[in-house]
Amino acid sequence: MKGKRILLVIGGGIAAYKILELIRRLREQEASVRAVMTRAAKEFVTPLSVASLSGNQIFDDLFSLTDETEIGHIELSRDADLVVVAPATADLLAKLAHGLADDLASTLLLATDKKILVAPAMNVRMWENPVTRRNVASLRHDGILFVGPEVGDMACGEYGAGRISEPAAILAAIEDILRGDTRVALHGGQLAGRRVVVTSGPTREPIDPLRYLGNSSSGKQGHAIAAAAARAGAEVVLVSGPVALPDPPGVATRHVTTASEMLAAVEAALPADMFVAAAAVADWRVAEVAAQKLKKGAQAPVLRLVENPDILARIAQNPGRPRLVVGFAAETENLIDNARAKLTAKGCDVIVANEVSDDVLGQDENEVTIVTRGGTETWPRMRKDHVALKLVAYLAKLLEADHAR
Ligand code: C5P
Repeated sequence: MKGKRILLVIGGGIAAYKILELIRRLREQEASVRAVMTRAAKEFVTPLSVASLSGNQIFDDLFSLTDETEIGHIELSRDADLVVVAPATADLLAKLAHGLADDLASTLLLATDKKILVAPAMNVRMWENPVTRRNVASLRHDGILFVGPEVGDMACGEYGAGRISEPAAILAAIEDILRGDTRVALHGGQLAGRRVVVTSGPTREPIDPLRYLGNSSSGKQGHAIAAAAARAGAEVVLVSGPVALPDPPGVATRHVTTASEMLAAVEAALPADMFVAAAAVADWRVAEVAAQKLKKGAQAPVLRLVENPDILARIAQNPGRPRLVVGFAAETENLIDNARAKLTAKGCDVIVANEVSDDVLGQDENEVTIVTRGGTETWPRMRKDHVALKLVAYLAKLLEADHAR
């Protein structure tokens, strides 16, 4: 970073205070920082703090004569190795996506020929608004680089995607880009470039052409995980048993009925970086499936059952094992002990354990405990789609740590 010149565009959001820390860290690494502040940014942090930390005057006025004579907006970016927009508000992203140039920040973003890294920060509803989705998609298409946003609690009290990445993560992205590695920043998302296979829903084991053995899994948690992994940039294959849910957007969904079909579809989807077995797979199937509908007779039929393949255990012991294998444990008693035993027995890396009761199965909320060889952590009860986002962020970090080893 020594001697690198960062042009930092600070947008107006509550996350702006975190940028002071970013400036400090950039300076520690001996990068030089020139900061441009939008009018709104100055409501959140003072120009004096930014100027003192960066060791340079701040730039904020498109029409300032002195600035224009000493250093114009074209010069500002010409002089930089990288332009970083942090926090990148919904408004700044919209201006950048549409080429608006009505202040110094937006004008220099339009005028620059340097790479632009944006660190979005906004309320989750603004981030998920179709307008922002469109703007982000077209910015990515144009080669704008992204770091974050992260999933978590928001300053406004909501939960979801939209938190600005931590200064250390923004710094790491800057370092990668200056080194010429734009892979993660280009594709965005913590799982960019990863391949993830997820199973979801129940399986159905036929008894005769009309009847089956099944269970009451809704597939809500597994589908939400597949969707969250896709949103984090992964290429996702979802192998789903029969459910009443739509296929998640951006996910390649394979529909299967029995456990044997599910195993075959999962094996066909490998290799992968991560396998998440969220399906409630039937442990047994009927040994002889009747070719015709069983008729009511004098005697009730006796069904002989045989064991189904354990998909999770098979994949965990597969020679081309994904680096991260994640199972679920739905238990009615001794949650943690049983989950820990399953971790060893099946050979997986993580077990997501949850107590099953009527208020979880088929419902929209879940309360889970994450069990690894390193320990356990229990997450508060939250919506299944939030569990999915949090789990995907957690697993992405594990993968990263594994990669770094
Ligand atoms: O042993 P148990 O069914 O409780 O283990 C649950 C975990 O194992 C889940 O992750 C489930 O998807 C997986 N499993 C599987 N194939 C089976 C049975 C369970 O993949 N036949």
